[in-house]
Amino acid sequence: MRSHYCGQVTEDLLDQEVEVCGWAHRRRDHGGVIFIDLRDRDGLVQVVFDPDVGEAFEVADRVRNEFVLKVRGRVRHRPEGTVNPDLKTGKVEIFGQHLEILNRARTPPFQLDETDVGEDVRLRYRYMDLRRPEMQHRLRTRAKVTTAMRRFLDDNGFLDIETPMLTRATPEGARDYLVPSRIHPGEFYALPQSPQLFKQLLMMSGMDRYYQIVRCFRDEDLRADRQPEFTQLDVETSFMDEEGIMGLMEAMIRQLFREVLGEELPDPFPRMTYAEAVHRFGIDRPDLRIPLELIEVGDLVADAEFKVFSGPANDPKGRVAALHVPGGGELTRKQIDDYTRFVGRYGAKGLAYIKVNDPAQGREGLQSPILKFLSDEAVTGIMERTRAQAGDLVFFGADRAKVVNESLAALRVQIGHDLDMVEPGWRPLWVVDFPMMEFDENDKRYYALHHPFTAPQAGEPSELRVDDPEQLLSRAYDMVLNGTEIGGGSIRIHRPEMQYAVFDLLGIGEEEAREKFGFLLTALEHGAPPHGGLAFGLDRLVMLMTGAHSIRDVMAFPKTQTASCLLTEAPAPVGEAQLKELGLRLRRSVAAEKSEKEA
Ligand code: AMO
Ligand code: AMP
Repeated sequence: MRSHYCGQVTEDLLDQEVEVCGWAHRRRDHGGVIFIDLRDRDGLVQVVFDPDVGEAFEVADRVRNEFVLKVRGRVRHRPEGTVNPDLKTGKVEIFGQHLEILNRARTPPFQLDETDVGEDVRLRYRYMDLRRPEMQHRLRTRAKVTTAMRRFLDDNGFLDIETPMLTRATPEGARDYLVPSRIHPGEFYALPQSPQLFKQLLMMSGMDRYYQIVRCFRDEDLRADRQPEFTQLDVETSFMDEEGIMGLMEAMIRQLFREVLGEELPDPFPRMTYAEAVHRFGIDRPDLRIPLELIEVGDLVADAEFKVFSGPANDPKGRVAALHVPGGGELTRKQIDDYTRFVGRYGAKGLAYIKVNDPAQGREGLQSPILKFLSDEAVTGIMERTRAQAGDLVFFGADRAKVVNESLAALRVQIGHDLDMVEPGWRPLWVVDFPMMEFDENDKRYYALHHPFTAPQAGEPSELRVDDPEQLLSRAYDMVLNGTEIGGGSIRIHRPEMQYAVFDLLGIGEEEAREKFGFLLTALEHGAPPHGGLAFGLDRLVMLMTGAHSIRDVMAFPKTQTASCLLTEAPAPVGEAQLKELGLRLRRSVAAEKSEKEA
C-alpha cells in the first residue's frame, strides 16, 4: 500500500511521488491550507493539502486526530522559515495529491504527546500508548536486544529449546501461579517461576548448551522492577566452570551494548565478593556510579555511653556504620527529617548525624544531636576515618546489621540522586562468593540464597558439617548493572549425595526431597555432567538500556502494581459451569465478597 515509511521521507526523495500510510498525528487548518502530520512507526512527515487539489482537500477537511490515512503526493522543500530541525523529515513536506481515509477513530483518550498521562489510562488504552514514539523506540530496542542475544548464543553453539509452561512447582522462593487440572480434579499445575530444573535435566540429556527466551511467573509483591510474568534469557551449559560461564556471558552483554547502543563496556567486568559488597555498600547489588560508601565505626563507639551506638557495636549481629556525604552540610533540618523518615521504612529507628562546619576546631566545629554522647576519642576517630571536611555531613546507622545495611544502602542511592552525585555511564559488576543460605527470622529456618540446586564451594558433603551454616559459600554469581541485578546463576550440584546433603542443611529430609524432587534426584543418578548457567532478567536489562524507570515501560502489555491487566480486565471471575468442570468451588461467593468490599 505504500512506497515509504513516513520517517523515510527526506530530501533524498525531493520531487518524487511517494505513497505513505499512517495515523493523523495532528491536523492544522491554516486559513485555506490544511496540514496533517502523518505518523507511523518510523516517524512523522508533514503533508500539505491545498484547495487547488479539490478532492484531496475535501477529504483532508474531514480528518481528525488518529484517523488512519493513505496519502499520495510529491515531496518538496518546506517553505523558508518552516523547517523543523528536530525532525528527520523536517526539511521537506509532501504536497498531497490523493488522500484516502482507511479508518476513522474516536477522540483519543489522551493526546499522544501529552507527557503527564496517568499510567492507568495508558494501560487501559495500551494500543494508543504504544503508538507514542518513545514506546515504539523501547519495544524496538527490546527486539534488537533479543535478536543480538540469539545471534550471539547461536554463534556459540547454544540450542534454543522450549520447556513446559504447565509444570510442577519449582522453588525459586516466590509463590506459584496455579492452574487447575480438569482431567485430574483437585490437582494443579504450576506455571514455572523459571525453567531451572528443566534446563538442568537438559544438561543431563546431553544437550550441552541450552538457551531460551522464556516467560516466568512469580506471585510476589510487585515493584518498579518486578512483574508477575516477566521474561528471562535462560542459559545452561555442561562441562564449563564459573570462569567460562561468566566470561561468555559478559562477552554477550558487551556485544549487546556495542551493537544496540554503541557503548563499550569494560573487559573484563570487575568482580566483588558478596561480603565486600555488603560491607562497603550495604547491599549485594551496589550502584557503583554513586561515590559514597559505608564506613565501619563500631569499634570507635563500643564504649560510648550512647546505648543506641554501643549496643549494636557490641552485638555480633549488630552494626554501626557511617555514611560520609561530601557537601552534605547544606542539607536542611527538614531534609534530614525526611531522610530519617525514609530510613524508617527499612526499620531504622533514627538517623544520627554530624554536620562538619570546621574540623580544625574539634567539637566546637561540629553540629550534632549525638555529640554530647560521644567521647573526644570517638569523635576524633570518626572524623579521621570518614575524612569529613568542612561543609560535609556524616550520617550514622546503628542496629541489627540487616537494618543498618538495608537502610544505609537505600539512603546512599537516594542521596546520590538528590545531590546529583550519580556519575554517567555503565558500571557492570559481578558479585561472587555468595553465602549458601540465609536465616529467616520469621520462619526460624535457613533458605537457599539462590536456590537449593546451587553447588557449595565445599567439594564434599562432609565439609558442609559446620557450626555456622551461614559461613558456607556457594558457587553463585550475579551480574549487576548500575545498581540493578540483571542476572544471576551458579554452578549446580551434579552429584546426588551432595544434593541430599544440601537439602538436609535446608531442613528438607530425604523423604520430602524424594517427594518434591524425586525426578531430579533420580536423573542425577543416571550420569549427570557438571553443569551451570544463569538467567538474565530481559525486562530489567532493556529498562536500563532504554533509560526507562519501570519494567512496565518495556513490556507491551504489562500488569499494574496489583497484578491486573487494565486492558483486558484480567483477572476476572469465571462461571459456575467452568468451576464445576474443574472440580472447584469457591470458599465464599465472589458476589458476597464484592458487596462486602463495597460496604
Ligand atoms: P533469579 O530468580 O535470580 O534466577 O532470576 C533471574 C533474573 O530474573 C530477573 N527477575 C525478574 N524480573 C522481573 N520481574 C520479576 N518478578 C523478576 N524476578 C527475577 C532478575 C534476575 O536476576 N533459575 C535462576 C537462574 C539460574 O540459576 O540460572 C533464576 O531464576 O533480573
Ligand atoms: P534520641 O536519643 O533517640 O533522641 O536519638 C538521638 C539521635 O540519634 C537522633 O538524631 C536519632 O535520629 C539518632 N538515632 C536514634 N536511633 C538511631 C539508630 N538506631 N541508628 C542511627 N541513629 C539513631
